[in-house]
Amino acid sequence: MRIDIITVLPELLKSPFEASILKRAIEKGLVEVHFHNLRDYTTNKYKQVDDYQFGGGAGMVMMIEPIDKCISQLKSERDYDDVIYMTPDGNTLNQSIANGLSLKENLIILCGHYKGVDQRVRDMHVTKEISIGDYVLSGGELAAAVVCDAVIRLIPGVLNDETSALTDTFQDNLLAPPVYTRPAEYKGMEVPEILLSGNFPKIEKWREEQALERTKARRPDLLE
Ligand code: ADE
Repeated sequence: MRIDIITVLPELLKSPFEASILKRAIEKGLVEVHFHNLRDYTTNKYKQVDDYQFGGGAGMVMMIEPIDKCISQLKSERDYDDVIYMTPDGNTLNQSIANGLSLKENLIILCGHYKGVDQRVRDMHVTKEISIGDYVLSGGELAAAVVCDAVIRLIPGVLNDETSALTDTFQDNLLAPPVYTRPAEYKGMEVPEILLSGNFPKIEKWREEQALERTKARRPDLLE
């Protein structure tokens, strides 16, 4: 998979890709992530990427020209499955969206700033709009990093058996069951005996029951 991220703040985006699982995925060649600084696509000597909105009102709008130039350049080099725009008015990210994106070959992610991008960018290029929740961030960069993390960990080969995504919370619309590690007793608090029993069919059944109970209690909406 290849992900091209278009941003005015590449420095804000780099560190999540320089540690742990994302770093390893890149080193293994399972994903390529490229950052494109929108200011490199400006024609103006001030490297201007935003301007006042037509019709008046507070807040700047990201201009169409540099974004169109950058996306058109990328599209001339290869085919893209999706151009994703990070925006609080997009579809809320969930596991099903992440699963779908993990099967794609080439993705562009456009990070918004200020009051967002000129609507014509969305009409012309954007094929998916994603929000990471009902709150407003200062820009789309952190949201893009969240999407990349959720997607890249699902690419076959990125996680090993111990970190397998198959048993993640949400993967089957259930929250994950409680987990424990050593010691078996800590300050009088004991690990459920079933987990020490070695009876794996029973353990699996217990985990399923716990997952269902937790989902009923915390996220009944997932069961609807
Ligand atoms: N940009 C600003 N806020 C955002 C959000 N909640 N999700 C995605 N992109 C955003």
